[in-house]
Amino acid sequence: MRQTRTFMIGILIFVFAAAAVTNAPQDEEGNTALLIINADQGQLKISRHIYGHFSEHLGRCIYGGYWVGEHSPIKNTRGIRDDVVAALRKIKVPVLRWPGGCFADEYHWKDGVGPPSERPTLVNTHWGGVTENNHFGTHEFLDLCRQIGCEPYICGNVGSGTVKEMSEWVEYITFDGQSPMADWRRKNGKDEPWTLKFFGIGNENWGCGGNMQPEFYADVYRRFQTYVRNFSGNRIYKIACGSYGENYEWTEVLMERAGRSMNGLSFHYYTVPGGWGNKNSATQFGEKEWFETLDKALFIDELITRHSIIMDRYDPQKRVGMVVDEWGTWYEVEPGTKPAFLFQQNSLRDALVAGATLNIFNRHCDRVKMANLAQTINVLQALILTKDEQMVLTPTYHVFDLYKVHQDATLIPIAMKAPHYTYHEKSIPQVSASASKNSQGHIHLSLCNLNPNDSVKIMCEIRGVQTQTVSGQILTSDEMTAHNTFQNPDAIRPQNFNGAALTNSTLKVMLPAKSVVMLEIK
Ligand code: AHR
Repeated sequence: MRQTRTFMIGILIFVFAAAAVTNAPQDEEGNTALLIINADQGQLKISRHIYGHFSEHLGRCIYGGYWVGEHSPIKNTRGIRDDVVAALRKIKVPVLRWPGGCFADEYHWKDGVGPPSERPTLVNTHWGGVTENNHFGTHEFLDLCRQIGCEPYICGNVGSGTVKEMSEWVEYITFDGQSPMADWRRKNGKDEPWTLKFFGIGNENWGCGGNMQPEFYADVYRRFQTYVRNFSGNRIYKIACGSYGENYEWTEVLMERAGRSMNGLSFHYYTVPGGWGNKNSATQFGEKEWFETLDKALFIDELITRHSIIMDRYDPQKRVGMVVDEWGTWYEVEPGTKPAFLFQQNSLRDALVAGATLNIFNRHCDRVKMANLAQTINVLQALILTKDEQMVLTPTYHVFDLYKVHQDATLIPIAMKAPHYTYHEKSIPQVSASASKNSQGHIHLSLCNLNPNDSVKIMCEIRGVQTQTVSGQILTSDEMTAHNTFQNPDAIRPQNFNGAALTNSTLKVMLPAKSVVMLEIK
C-alpha cells in the first residue's frame, strides 16, 4: 500500500514537472530553455563502446595515418605513429573497428600475416584501385589496439570469403593450444593468443558486401557464425550486418530469422548534406548547409527509435545490442585530392554533429551498445588529419575529448523544453543535451547550441542530489566554418567556460551560439 502511494506520488511529480516544462514561458531576454535533471534516477549504463571508432584500408587512414613503418623518420613504435597513438589514448578510445567497411568483404587475412616482404599484394577495388601491400595486417592491428589501450573489433569477410577462412582467423587470434593456426601465429612471433571480443560477420552485405537479400543474408549469417568459435576461454560477441538508414525490412528479417544467434546487430547512417549526388564542401558553406547538416544528423534519433521498436518485438529484454558501427558526415572531398580517398576537412559544424549525435546515443543507451565514428584519420569525419610528420586534431576530436567523461557512467534522465532554431520554413530543437553520473557521483551535462546566430539561456533544476560547484569547457568559434589546418592547428580548441552559475539546485547556463559545452557539477 505504502509502495503504491509512493509510486502514485512519483507519477504526479513527474506529470507536474513535465507540464511545468511544457508550459514554460519564454524568457524576456530572448531564448530560454528549461531543463530538469533527475540526478537520483539513473538506471542505465552508457557503454563506453558508444565512443568507439572505425578505421578502414581506405585512402590515408591506415597508411600515412597510423602506419609509417619501422624505418620511417616519423617517430613510431613498431611502425605505428607515436603522435597518433598518444592523441587517441588521451580521448580514451574504447574500441576500434577494422579492416572495413567495404574493404572487409574483399580482405583475406592470411595475406596480411608473416614476413612483410613475403605478403602478397591486393588491389583495393573499392577505394581507388590502389595496390595494398598488406604490411598492416592482423598483428599490426592488434598491436595498434594494445598501444591505444582499446578493444579490437574485427569485421570478417562474408562477401568473398569462406566459412573456413573466417573460422581460422578466430582460431589464429584466440586459440592457446596446438593447432595449425595457433602454431602459425607462434611462428609469426606471437606465442600467447590475443583476447578478441567483438567480431562482425560481414559488412553492408546488402550492398558492397555481396548485394544480398535480407532472407539470404540471414541464412548466410547463421551459417558463418556457427564456426566463429569461443576458443580457450575467449568469448566472442557476434555482430550481424544490419541496416542502413530507413531500411526497416532488413532489421525485421534479421531479427526474426537470426536474432537468437547474434549478440549485436549493426546499423549505418551517414549525414550527407546535399545528398549522395550533390555533396557539399566541408568548409565552404553557409547557413543553409549548416541547417541541413544538423537536421539530417538529428534524424538518427528517429532511425534508432524505429529500428529499436522492431528489435523490441523480437528481443524485449534488449539482449541484442544495436551497434552503430558507421556514422558521421560525408562531404565532397577536398579539392585536388583523390575522390576515392574520401579526405575531407572538419569544422565547427562537425563538432555540433558529433556532440548532438553522441547525446542521442547516450539517451538510447538501453539499446545502443556500441558506435564507431567513420573514420579516425584522414577519411570522412576524422578525428585526426596527417601530412607527413604533421598532425592536426579536428573539432570532432575535441568533442570526443570533452565527452569521454560519459564513458561507462550512469545515464541521468532529463526533461527539456527548448526553443526551436528555424531556418526558412523548417525547425529543429535549438539545444541538444544529455547527462550522466560517474562512479564518484559527479554529474556531467553535455549541451549543444545548434543555432549559429543566437545564444540560449538554460534554466536548469537539479533534483535528487546536493550540488555545490559547476565548472566547464566550451568548443566554439566566431565562424561556422572554423577548422584547424596544418598552418593553424589550434584555430578551434576547447576553452574554459564561465557561462554557468549554480545556486543550490538551480543551474543557469548562457550557452553561446554554435557551441558544444561540457559541464561538471559536483
Ligand atoms: O566508410 C566508408 C564506407 O561507407 C564503408 O566502407 C562502407 O561500409 C560504407 O558504405
